[in-house]
Amino acid sequence: MKKTAQEILKETQKTLDLVAKPELSEEEKNWVTDATANYYSSHVNPGILEYRKSVSTEYISVEWADSANGFTDIKGRHYLDLLGGYGIFNVGHRHPKVVEAVSNQLKRQALHSQELLEPFRAILAKLIHDITPGDLQFSFFGNSGAEAVEGAMKLAMLHTGRKSFVAATSAFHGKTLGALSATAKAKFRQPFLPILPDCYHVPYGDADYIESVVRSADEVGNDIAGVILEPIQGEGGINVPPDDYFPRVREICDRYGALLIADEVQTGMGRTGKMFCVDHWDVVPDIMCLGKAMGGGVMPIGAFVSNKTIWEQLFPEPWLHSTTFGGNPLACVAAIANIHVLLEEKLPERAEKMGNEIMAKLKALRRRFPKLCADVRGKGLMIGLEFPSDALGYEIAKGLFDHGVLVAGTLFSAKTIRIEPPLTITQQEVNSALDTIEKVFKEVNARHFESKKPAGIKKHDKEPNTPS
Ligand SMILES: Cc1ncc(COP(=O)(O)O)c(C=O)c1O
Repeated sequence: MKKTAQEILKETQKTLDLVAKPELSEEEKNWVTDATANYYSSHVNPGILEYRKSVSTEYISVEWADSANGFTDIKGRHYLDLLGGYGIFNVGHRHPKVVEAVSNQLKRQALHSQELLEPFRAILAKLIHDITPGDLQFSFFGNSGAEAVEGAMKLAMLHTGRKSFVAATSAFHGKTLGALSATAKAKFRQPFLPILPDCYHVPYGDADYIESVVRSADEVGNDIAGVILEPIQGEGGINVPPDDYFPRVREICDRYGALLIADEVQTGMGRTGKMFCVDHWDVVPDIMCLGKAMGGGVMPIGAFVSNKTIWEQLFPEPWLHSTTFGGNPLACVAAIANIHVLLEEKLPERAEKMGNEIMAKLKALRRRFPKLCADVRGKGLMIGLEFPSDALGYEIAKGLFDHGVLVAGTLFSAKTIRIEPPLTITQQEVNSALDTIEKVFKEVNARHFESKKPAGIKKHDKEPNTPS
């Protein structure tokens, strides 16, 4: 230890006291803010401070408390959450039913024995069977989306006896080594290559391309174990495929004996207007990956789900794939409450309705600012706003942040901003968010695209349109 036990005890006690306090004094707020920034710099990663909008505002904004569809920073400034934690907060922040379920479970038992049978893991697995399409029946629970993808890839290899995968360009499936093989961004992959060597990336949305790669792999004896795809690409820029894409890929996979893995980590749990995005096209994947919103915005949990025929590979040796914390009771009751709230409050339907409305208004805004806004696309409450450059995308995101609305670029680029609010967002919040977006569009458009009138020139004189 680099400090004495007494010193560490003093610091841990101070922090525990802060956590317990309903209100902090100004002095305490300042201490937390300074400690956070300093310790990020010296003990987390100073590089992160370069990227965070919250650092380049008039003060360093440190998050502190949830509110219904947003949160407040330590100074009490409220942010409307249009980012939804990159797709975590489908049922909102700290939904009372999810919090109640987790609190009740915590009062009785926190983590599992790892030896006895766990009731809530079993009940959740049954519920996942009930809400997923087709013959999907068995679930394995982990703690993240990447873990779900790892498990799905291993299961595909196990079932098919094959080792190769097809994924898409602009795909994001996580950053653990197996998932990273399917993820597409060069910057994230290059330092670690070769990862899984036989992972072929094909242009997203092009079923013919998939067919030709699967056929060629088949012809040379390097058959494909699985085709892994996001039903809508999230981190790649909110890319919505043509309606016949998934049905065609399903048919190609069937023809060549490859498994279709639908990565619903971001699209699942009502986000796109259906419980799962593949439901839009009535496609049943062989394996489905879940994560993010599954834990009701309160607990981390992910899962891979498959049918009995495929899962039978794991029957004789259930420990072929396992993890200590996966399926723990706190996460499972949070996921059960999440399913309950999604259905009780009809949140998938709400996502569709609100999404259509927001998209129509954003498209109208795009028509008013054609130089600034390059595209509006999405499904349900998974919406992308594309700008001509990363710099403009960042400027819009920063402008919104300064006006108390949180959005972010995607992991692949800052030029596409995602709008992924909690599905519980109210009409009033939608109106206020759209007003703010309009205001920021006006500001940024004026800075970059509106002609500047030299002094003394009359209004009717011809002005050059000079983007700065
Ligand atoms: C589609 C998809 N799959 C997998 C992941 C990885 O999930 P996690 O960050 O929980 O590992 C993400 C995360 O953004 C994702 O969007």
